[in-house]
Amino acid sequence: MFKFFDKFRPSKQLLKEIDPNNVPKHVGIIMDGNGRWAKKRGLPRSAGHRAGAQVLRRITEFAEGIGVKYITAYAFSTENWKRPKAEVDALMDLLLEYLKDKEQLAGKRVIIRVIGDRSALSDEINREIDVVEEYTRGREGLTLYLAINYGGRQEIVQAMKKLSEGIREGSVAPEDLTEDMISERIYTDEVPDVDLIIRPSGELRLSNFLLWQSAYSEFWFSDINWPDFSNRDFTRAILDYQNRNRRFGA
Ligand code: FPP
Repeated sequence: MFKFFDKFRPSKQLLKEIDPNNVPKHVGIIMDGNGRWAKKRGLPRSAGHRAGAQVLRRITEFAEGIGVKYITAYAFSTENWKRPKAEVDALMDLLLEYLKDKEQLAGKRVIIRVIGDRSALSDEINREIDVVEEYTRGREGLTLYLAINYGGRQEIVQAMKKLSEGIREGSVAPEDLTEDMISERIYTDEVPDVDLIIRPSGELRLSNFLLWQSAYSEFWFSDINWPDFSNRDFTRAILDYQNRNRRFGA
């Protein structure tokens, strides 16, 4: 299960504390703090994003080992285009590099799907997304949803556009609209709502991530920058989650 060297790997004792019957099915991760991690080391921000991508792979494989079924990782938000062009270009280059090297992105067992508005991504990135989704489709491990040019509000708007078409054509009556109809039209339509959202780096906000899916999510925050995030940190997040009392409003 722990093929990858991790100097902060959880002790056997800590791992034993995980209740296999109460592992969150779907974990969302806001991979924050890459820039600060790089700055501390006198490196360009792009080095922080690169280190963050490596951590995503390690955490994805570790999460699969403890029974998580889905991870959604916020790789590029609809607002990230406002960053300096050099940083946007470096992030797009990194994404392309990882998409091309399918094993580097998530290992051999992970299914990869991309969510977000793909229309603003380059043809080359779009092509590689199709290739990697097809290449990993038949796998049976965890599914990693990479959110690229993703925004929760934008996701809801595109679901409403799809529903409006049905209304215009007469196949959906406005008075018959249900929550399920929206859940079926968002990007993560095949996936249960997100159980746990992890945000490192000390920021305490959702930043337009999985707005619809997070109605009853648990949150786990830490001060650690994402490139320093260890398997032990992930284990702690899972254990904290298992100590929460989820009532879903009841
Ligand atoms: C936020 O940290 C992070 C991002 C905007 C990008 C996250 C992307 C990655 C980790 C790379 C993903 C790539 C692949 C191939 C999976 P920040 O830059 O805002 O950090 P800061 O708050 O410290 O400045």
